[in-house]
Amino acid sequence: MSEVFTKSMARNIYFGGSVFFVLLFLALTFDTTRATPERDNHAAMTEQVALGKRVWEENDCIGCHTLLGEGAYFAPELGNVYRRFGNSTDAIVAFIKSRPVEGIPGRRSMPQFNLSDEELQAVAAFLKYASEIDAAGWPPNIQG
Ligand code: HEC
Repeated sequence: MSEVFTKSMARNIYFGGSVFFVLLFLALTFDTTRATPERDNHAAMTEQVALGKRVWEENDCIGCHTLLGEGAYFAPELGNVYRRFGNSTDAIVAFIKSRPVEGIPGRRSMPQFNLSDEELQAVAAFLKYASEIDAAGWPPNIQG
């Protein structure tokens, strides 16, 4: 290699590097587009899960919680709450239902949403569904 760093060497690094990273970007985009549908568990997407997602959105659960890392950091991650609660939608329903209207003094607490039984079952089904998405091991531990 010559001792001098010439203009043409700089140009080659610039264009070579650009081409390399554009190709890498295209390859990763292609890989993501191919892999994502397999990782999404479409089969488990029922009417009830869809209703649960609406309940989730209308009550702005994500305003306090994260779901698979996305959302606010005020309250626990819920992507794996189904597993944290012993693989039980009943436990999730019981938790949401039993929130005190007046909150819990001196600590963060979750509001009482007064959801109907159908909405409670649906949002729990949605959280079960979320826990079954192949998120490449995210969240990394059971605590969220
Ligand atoms: C105003 C903020 C806030 C909103 C909005 C909110 N939560 Fe929570 N949630 C919390 C807090 C704080 C906790 C932790 C409560 C505790 O440990 O007592 C919690 C805990 C939970 C838990 C138990 C998590 C665990 O690991 O212990 C579940 C399940 C849950 N929320 C579901 C929901 C759902 C579903 C919604 C939307 C209908 C929702 N939350 C909206 C604040 C919120």
